[in-house]
Amino acid sequence: MNVPFLDFSEQYQTIKKEVMEGFGRVCEKGNFILGEEEKNFEKAFADYCGVEHGIGVNSGTDALYLALGSLGVGKGDEVILPTFTFIATALCISYTGAKPVFVDNEDATNNMDPQKLEEAITPQTKAIMPVHLYGLPANMDEIKAVAQKHNIPVVEDAAQAHGSDYKGQKVGSLGDVACFSFYPTKGLGAFGDGGCIVTNRKDIYETACMLRDYGRVGRYEHKVKGFNSRLDTLQAVVLAAKLPLLDEWNNMRIKNAAQYKQCLADVEGIQLPNVLEDRKHVYQTFAVRVKDRDKVLEGMKEKGVGVLIHYPIPLHLQKAYAELGHQKGDFPVAEQLADEVLSLPMFPHMSQEQIEYVCSCLKDVI
Ligand SMILES: Cc1ncc(COP(=O)(O)O)c(C=O)c1O
Repeated sequence: MNVPFLDFSEQYQTIKKEVMEGFGRVCEKGNFILGEEEKNFEKAFADYCGVEHGIGVNSGTDALYLALGSLGVGKGDEVILPTFTFIATALCISYTGAKPVFVDNEDATNNMDPQKLEEAITPQTKAIMPVHLYGLPANMDEIKAVAQKHNIPVVEDAAQAHGSDYKGQKVGSLGDVACFSFYPTKGLGAFGDGGCIVTNRKDIYETACMLRDYGRVGRYEHKVKGFNSRLDTLQAVVLAAKLPLLDEWNNMRIKNAAQYKQCLADVEGIQLPNVLEDRKHVYQTFAVRVKDRDKVLEGMKEKGVGVLIHYPIPLHLQKAYAELGHQKGDFPVAEQLADEVLSLPMFPHMSQEQIEYVCSCLKDVI
């Protein structure tokens, strides 16, 4: 048996008719940029997150970049983020001219460690960016308490956590502004690149709308130097067809995760993802921790199981950030995570047999 890391073919069959009809409608109207479907999707996605405004943009990276731009972050400023995340979380800070300031991750959640947050704050800190890694919300109460004490806005990087919640409140509504990616492999994925900024703050909404559209305030009237970063109407058609199914698909992921956990519960040498009572994990990624990870990875591949590492190098040790002068040992939890994490196949329509096969291979290999 071969088990791919991802397989969205069944998902596609579920939405195919609606998507093809929607594509036809958009093509007939010829309204390919910020068309009616895009406006409707922005509203639907903001409603889903429980916030007032949605701004469709062309990627999760741009969502973060424009959100920071809307907060006025720029040269000379600092933005705090966890070091164990995807590099886009830091790149968007660098694009603004600000400096990314890393903090260590926390063992229990793999997310930003709130205990390490306060010591990273300086007079230059202009934003705090927690990441809801793998689909598990960060410790938002503790993070927000520090942010409020210092009057610093919180930007959620929710690129991996569509539909998860923290103490009953949806991710996307927990900070000043939140950013989602619709990269095709995400919980809510387009048929290409896409992203969305969501916020309750009118000032952020208005500035982000301007920034994504050449800084435009009238047809050829430009208030600021903006960008071209809009969500295509055709992508909005795909996302609008998928959105009503997101909760069902997340529940399928949660069920798959429960089967994995049951199957691997007593296996020595495997650390399973933590379940925390106060938040919902949507398992965009199902990452276990193992010793000798690279050997386990090879063994799984030999058995036909698609496995990946998210992520093998924490950002403070990436060459791209050598200028910050960090060394091994600076953020020990993140470094250990990077050495041990292994992402197992996870997608809503996995069969029980596929999960059983992955588990038996993992037990064999270990
Ligand atoms: C945590 C995180 N932030 C940001 C991004 C960037 O999103 P995009 O690929 O849509 O630019 C990703 C995408 O993988 C991500 O995982």
